[in-house]
Amino acid sequence: MKGMATIDRARLRSLMEREQQRFVHDRPKSRALFERAGKSLLGGVPMNWMMKWAGAFPPFVREAQGAHFFDVDGNRYIDFCLGDTGAMTGHSPFATVKAAEEQLKRGITLMLPSEDGVFVAEELQKRFALPFWQFALTATDANRFSIRLARQITGRSRILVFNWCYHGTVDESFITLKDGVAQARRGNVGPPVDPSITTRVVEFNDVPALEQALAAGDVACVLAEPVMTNVGIVHPEPGYHAALRELTRKYGTLLIIDETHTICAGPGGYTRAENLDPDFFVFGKAIGGGVPGAAYGFTQDVARGIQEHHSLEDCDTGGIGGTLAGNALSLAAMRATLEKVLTKAAFDQMIPLAVRWAEGVTKTIAEFGMSWNVTGLGCRAEYLFSATPAKNGTQAHDAMDFELERFMHLYAMNRGILLTPFHNMALMSPVTSKEDVDHHTRVFREGVRELAG
Ligand SMILES: Cc1ncc(COP(=O)(O)O)c(C=O)c1O
Repeated sequence: MKGMATIDRARLRSLMEREQQRFVHDRPKSRALFERAGKSLLGGVPMNWMMKWAGAFPPFVREAQGAHFFDVDGNRYIDFCLGDTGAMTGHSPFATVKAAEEQLKRGITLMLPSEDGVFVAEELQKRFALPFWQFALTATDANRFSIRLARQITGRSRILVFNWCYHGTVDESFITLKDGVAQARRGNVGPPVDPSITTRVVEFNDVPALEQALAAGDVACVLAEPVMTNVGIVHPEPGYHAALRELTRKYGTLLIIDETHTICAGPGGYTRAENLDPDFFVFGKAIGGGVPGAAYGFTQDVARGIQEHHSLEDCDTGGIGGTLAGNALSLAAMRATLEKVLTKAAFDQMIPLAVRWAEGVTKTIAEFGMSWNVTGLGCRAEYLFSATPAKNGTQAHDAMDFELERFMHLYAMNRGILLTPFHNMALMSPVTSKEDVDHHTRVFREGVRELAG
């Protein structure tokens, strides 16, 4: 049942109009910048997805620090979006900035290793229990490189993903199921080939469908978030990960666990929290405290498989690389972030705040009888417009309500709160405070009260 069953759409639209007027009124400088930007940036934004912010234009940022930022009009925001996890450390964490500043003066990119790379790999070994590591600049690339390596090792061409997953701009992953049939995902821009040629797609938590898709023995790897986080939060059912690991092994398929978002579960991500045993592990976004960087790790067996195919003459080509990947600045930032920012102590601080945020939202949902639910994972929490938590991507996707979501986002923005633009997610940084969370609780309640009428 959708939240919309209880929501008067005419009322929602008139509230939206009122909020839009307030948004524009309070942001003349952002508006002027947006108008200027329209003459040089397509759509007036540096990246197409920035058009999705709920306001008439995005607020232009003056500066960000910790869990807060100011726009150019001087409006202050509590940032629960945190760069969609890129700034999960809080903006410009002191230790990362210090290390990056020092490195900036000592050389930014060289195509040669530095000691920081060794330190980072050793730290990643300890955290995630995988022996070998390589670097990329984005989680997308770390996923792409892992997929290529999996293909090379297994000699198989296909991959498998879960319906309504997101792993960055990985061509093979833009596929969804419609009435059980795999097809290019809506909005897939210029797919190189029909993704059903490269990819099998099944629902998360559906073990028989997974087995059926792997049984032909032509799937190189499964690319999975251990908990889905990009269509609301969808948890695995008890035993699902054990089945996933067992079936991938049974059919000779490698398992890539993408923890770019689920690192929110703790310093060792969901993998360590739940003792998963992947063949590849991907960690991007927050690893450098906001400085671009990503890492992928793999087992001894995978390392052997890679080396069996290694050619000294050709190792600088072949689809894995990036001139700036593993640059000195990224590595210095990753080292400081892992050593001093994304520590166990930080997670001990962040996780209870997400619980507090979820409790506040849950209370309001109950008070106004909305058929919405709240889910959480570590320092991340999210509400979805369905009465019960989703068990797979389709259920989560069906519960989305674009109009209602935009209202909730705009209402929050007008009262100094930023949620992620794509769904209703809030992330806690090590410097987010209880007051920040409680402000959201009050604003959320007020918004729902107005909606309920
Ligand atoms: C789980 C997951 N993996 C990978 C990515 C890609 O990250 P990036 O856009 O930094 O390459 C994302 C982005 O949202 C993600 O959510």
